[in-house]
Amino acid sequence: MPQARWWNAVIASSRPRTWEQLTASGGSGTSRGRTSARLTATESVVHRPASDRIHCRGMASGPPGSKVLTEDNVFTNLRKMEYAVRGPLLLRALEIEKELQKGAKKPFKEVIKANVGDAHAMGQQPITFLRQVLTLTVSPNLLNDPSYPEDAKERARTILCQCKGGSVGSYSESAGIEVIRKHAAQYIQDRDGIPSDYHNIILSNGASDGIKSFLKLFNEKVDGKPSGVMIPIPQYPLYSATLAEFGLAQIGYYLNEENKWALDISELDRALSESRRICNPRVLVVINPGNPTGQVLTRTNIEDIIRFAYKNHLFLLADEVYQDNVYDKDSAFHSFKKVMTEMGEPYCKMELASFMSVSKGYMGECGIRGGYGEFVNMDPKVMAILLKSISAMLCPTVLGQVVMDVVVNPPKPNEPSYQLFEKEKQHTLCSLAERSQLVVDTLNSIPGFKVNPAMGAMYVFPRIELPKKAIAAAEKEGQQPDVFYAFKLLESTGICVIPGSGFGQRPGTYHFRTTILPQKEKMKMMLESLKQFHIRFLEEYK
Ligand SMILES: Cc1ncc(COP(=O)(O)O)c(C=O)c1O
Repeated sequence: MPQARWWNAVIASSRPRTWEQLTASGGSGTSRGRTSARLTATESVVHRPASDRIHCRGMASGPPGSKVLTEDNVFTNLRKMEYAVRGPLLLRALEIEKELQKGAKKPFKEVIKANVGDAHAMGQQPITFLRQVLTLTVSPNLLNDPSYPEDAKERARTILCQCKGGSVGSYSESAGIEVIRKHAAQYIQDRDGIPSDYHNIILSNGASDGIKSFLKLFNEKVDGKPSGVMIPIPQYPLYSATLAEFGLAQIGYYLNEENKWALDISELDRALSESRRICNPRVLVVINPGNPTGQVLTRTNIEDIIRFAYKNHLFLLADEVYQDNVYDKDSAFHSFKKVMTEMGEPYCKMELASFMSVSKGYMGECGIRGGYGEFVNMDPKVMAILLKSISAMLCPTVLGQVVMDVVVNPPKPNEPSYQLFEKEKQHTLCSLAERSQLVVDTLNSIPGFKVNPAMGAMYVFPRIELPKKAIAAAEKEGQQPDVFYAFKLLESTGICVIPGSGFGQRPGTYHFRTTILPQKEKMKMMLESLKQFHIRFLEEYK
């Protein structure tokens, strides 16, 4: 179909659906259905009622000179969506940084941004081989430079051969450059010992982009109810934000803090049955290793989760972006695909989407935006729709694809860059493991702190006992107690963490998430400063 006709068809086909949403979603609009990403266990996010929209359309035709787009008529779901990792705490942290630059006197010299899993921002050095391949693809004239190793040149040439015009400046296929998809399939096959078909792999602008494209597929009412997506609480707020944006129902299941944040099947059962009133549960999201909780699921636990998803007819979404970040010597990463396949029939036939990223692991190349999703046992017609939907965005960034290629096709033992690559990779992973232990031990030594071991990922999520007077003071200021605490911490020490309420937590419990990413000396300083702050805080509100 020619581009224009195809585009019109897309627009036309979306029109009745929008209209149906306008007329069929009455009952849970702006006041009743909180679309905020702050969570209760089974909070539903549903589109606004028709009357609300029609009112806004009236406002859209205001007098010439007035704003066409205002806070009142902008897409409600976006207005209400929240993303704690970049929320008000970070905005204040950025302001404080500017104040410090202007010479303001504070009890600290710098802001430590322990709020976001951005390794390079916290001083982690890039992997040489990865940057060499990237540089060679960006500046192919360097392919004749003898200072670059042959294996990096070979990777760059292979990629450039598949780039249109031989340039990373050209659009790629929407699913990504074919050879990189093939390398990703090979990587998965080597990891799991189970075949992987590159046709099932779609490259993306970071895992976030792939996850959103996938969840969009469920943005459809079935039997008159919105689709429901089960997400862990605490969760990574990409999920609550995406569900809020799409108007999908959020079904929160609590992780078991008393058992190292394990995933209890009885809790999945509870959350699922309570949600059936308001939605049609269709997806189960599992983050393993976990963010913000740092747990690594055991194989038995994964098998139970797979059985639960099968029994309840759920599509499994395995967020496995931290698959390289396992620090606990008694734990190992087990991919959902491997476990599900090894369980045999009927589980090996289940639908699964698994996501990986260049932002985490030992790479930490968050700003380059690379990722992939593998879609196992997906209906081919749905796969075609997914491919069509991403094609409207043309393609993922080609530089992100290049970095993904290095991650899935690293130097082999017989290649010149192997030793340096392995040395740098192991150095980064060992240093992360060391810092995770340091953070857990130090936080557990602070009165009123309780932290589970950081088995994997890049964070800890300590539970803090807050004095009653502090809770009352927070209420007086109209803040959640953990938000109140995090702001006080920021203003007195410059340490920026994210309050637990941004990820979800059991009512009456308070947490925050800190990354383990500051480099060791800075981390020690940060922990000492945090400890002193907490002791003063307890004194002030005792
Ligand atoms: C669990 C989880 N999933 C997905 C992402 C998204 O990663 P990116 O979009 O940078 O690949 C993150 C980022 O922190 C994450 O923690």
